[in-house]
Amino acid sequence: MKATRYEGNKSFSVIEKEIEAPSEGEVRIKVAYSGVCGTDVHIYHGMMDQRVDIPVTIGHEMSGVIDAIGAGVTDFGVGDKVVVRPLDDRGVKPSDKGFNHVCEDLKFIGIDSPGSMQQYWNVPAFTLHKLKEETDLKLAALIEPLSVAVHDVRLSGLVSGETAVVLGGGPIGLLVAMVAKDAGANVIISEVNPVRISKAKELGFDAVNPTEIDLVQYVREQTDGRLADVVFEVAGVQPALDIMTEVAGIRGRIVMVAIHGQPKPVNLFKFFWKELKLIGARVYEKEDYEKAIALITANELPFEDMITDVQPLSNIQEVFENIDKNPNGLKVLMDCQQ
Ligand SMILES: NC(=O)c1ccc[n+]([C@@H]2O[C@H](COP(=O)([O-])OP(=O)(O)OC[C@H]3O[C@@H](n4cnc5c(N)ncnc54)[C@H](O)[C@@H]3O)[C@@H](O)[C@H]2O)c1
Ligand SMILES: [Zn+2]
Repeated sequence: MKATRYEGNKSFSVIEKEIEAPSEGEVRIKVAYSGVCGTDVHIYHGMMDQRVDIPVTIGHEMSGVIDAIGAGVTDFGVGDKVVVRPLDDRGVKPSDKGFNHVCEDLKFIGIDSPGSMQQYWNVPAFTLHKLKEETDLKLAALIEPLSVAVHDVRLSGLVSGETAVVLGGGPIGLLVAMVAKDAGANVIISEVNPVRISKAKELGFDAVNPTEIDLVQYVREQTDGRLADVVFEVAGVQPALDIMTEVAGIRGRIVMVAIHGQPKPVNLFKFFWKELKLIGARVYEKEDYEKAIALITANELPFEDMITDVQPLSNIQEVFENIDKNPNGLKVLMDCQQ
């Protein structure tokens, strides 16, 4: 079988190795597609060299078909289409209060242990979600990032008729926007990249550039002065932190989706003045995966337009180099059987 490995120093190798039998409690998946996530790009840039065990096979946004079953696995069979929820919560403790997805000793599969950018992948059966036979495996590779969006919208408490402002129209921001719109929200996307603004418009969104228009004034006009009920911070930059407290209306909820690696200034006065709420959101829980699977199975949202390229696994080096050269694409999928 073919497997890719991040070797450090912005380089990947593609190696041939033996296909391994799944251990007890595991299944072997014939991986169909593995999406490239922003985190994978961070790993490629060497920003997570302290955390990953180089050389390492990365990848966690995937779809595939079960190819072999280890001892003791009863809920799944060979030929089942599946996705992996890449959270290894075997170290969960009572002090984690049952929130396994953010437990102290959580291991993220595909970062802390080998991932899906290989032809066959052995994973613990408890990470699996079964898909319907008719599910499109390309779209299914979006289930992991879509589950992030479902989780974010669920934690926001968004209800139909509310106005949601999404700061950042990258892959995650667009998925958040789709889920929020599907939940009945009026969605405004704020994005600075003109190509991504056009893409958001093509997807049917009201998308504006906050460096060209006064975003707060725009949202005020769209809401009869009420401003946003929910703000999703999905850009991960200081200007988004500056504007999130401005664009939120009274008792607005701000969901922190972006990962800010360093402490940053936020206008806390606005939390007092408008009784704002700040909600942290990290990955997903089982129910978010189930909702994302239902959305992908129904295929009524423009998921296909999210996939901007599909490349053979053997092109992995070129794929990451191209992502650096062209930041406009949304989701690149690796075809793991090629
Ligand atoms: N909470 C979680 O569990 C979770 C999971 C996945 C990703 N994330 C985080 O979500 C964030 C978004 O992920 P992504 O893959 O879509 O990243 P991305 O970098 O592709 O998207 C961010 C977008 O924000 C835009 N942007 C930059 N400055 C802006 C500004 N001032 N106003 C509005 N938009 C601006 C960029 O042009 C870009 O399109 C990242 O911080 C990522 O780490 C969090
Ligand atoms: Zn990811």
